[in-house]
Amino acid sequence: MPWPENATHFGSHRIPLQDKQRRVDDVFRSVATRYDLMNDLMSGGLHRAWKDALVTAVNPPRSARPFSLLDLAGGTGDVALRVVAQGGAGTRATVIDINPDMLAVGRARTAERALNHVVTFIEGNAEALPVPDGTFDAVAIAFGIRNVPRIEQALKEIYRVLRIGGRFLCLEFSAVDVPGLDALYDFYSFNIIPALGQAVTGDRDAYRYLVESIRRFPRPEAFAGIIRAAGLGRVSYRVMSGGIVALHSGWRL
Ligand SMILES: C[S@@+](CC[C@H](N)C(=O)[O-])C[C@H]1O[C@@H](n2cnc3c(N)ncnc32)[C@H](O)[C@@H]1O
Repeated sequence: MPWPENATHFGSHRIPLQDKQRRVDDVFRSVATRYDLMNDLMSGGLHRAWKDALVTAVNPPRSARPFSLLDLAGGTGDVALRVVAQGGAGTRATVIDINPDMLAVGRARTAERALNHVVTFIEGNAEALPVPDGTFDAVAIAFGIRNVPRIEQALKEIYRVLRIGGRFLCLEFSAVDVPGLDALYDFYSFNIIPALGQAVTGDRDAYRYLVESIRRFPRPEAFAGIIRAAGLGRVSYRVMSGGIVALHSGWRL
């Protein structure tokens, strides 16, 4: 699905492309302090299993061999913290996110665990990463890519900052295609999640955006094509939980 030059969607609304980032930023500013709690509530804890699958695929070395991960759109640092917990003494993670409120929560969590020396937080835009070429052994993005206005540009940047032989992994909501589960999932998404969002964060619209943006995101095969078009090779994916999420993988060859 190519994105037209000057228009995009914010949830179900068609908006000028240049307005999307500001509106996404408003969503995450509003929910930052309750973001992690909401993930557990909304997914019934399932997001932990999905992130475990991502961390297993990142496969940081258990030894002291140096390994550097970029957790892109990493928000509160959930993926970065899981990867450093899994990896050995040489594993380091950098979280880049555009939203200072999400990063502030991540920095506080990291300080609580005394992990500041292994996890670094940087404010930055996925479309113009503030790091040199070939910096990372792996780039992971979890539930982030659909929020980025120019996805193709972000993928080009991901390619640029990966070292040759490095791996890209993308965990994102996808399309449920199990008969019966789809109707249930729709009901849950459009009725329960916004109500839960209202109760926990006071922001129903933020969670309505999250649900609607999931429906707009390309299907797994189409997204694999977009990743290939950015130059990544050996692109593959697997869907989990009946299609609720997909984990895509590609390599800088
Ligand atoms: C749903 S959260 C995911 C956070 C984290 N990866 C996780 O799985 O818990 C999406 C994140 O994408 C970030 N984001 C949105 N647009 C971005 C951009 N252009 N560049 C970097 N981060 C962005 C938001 O600020 C937010 O923290």
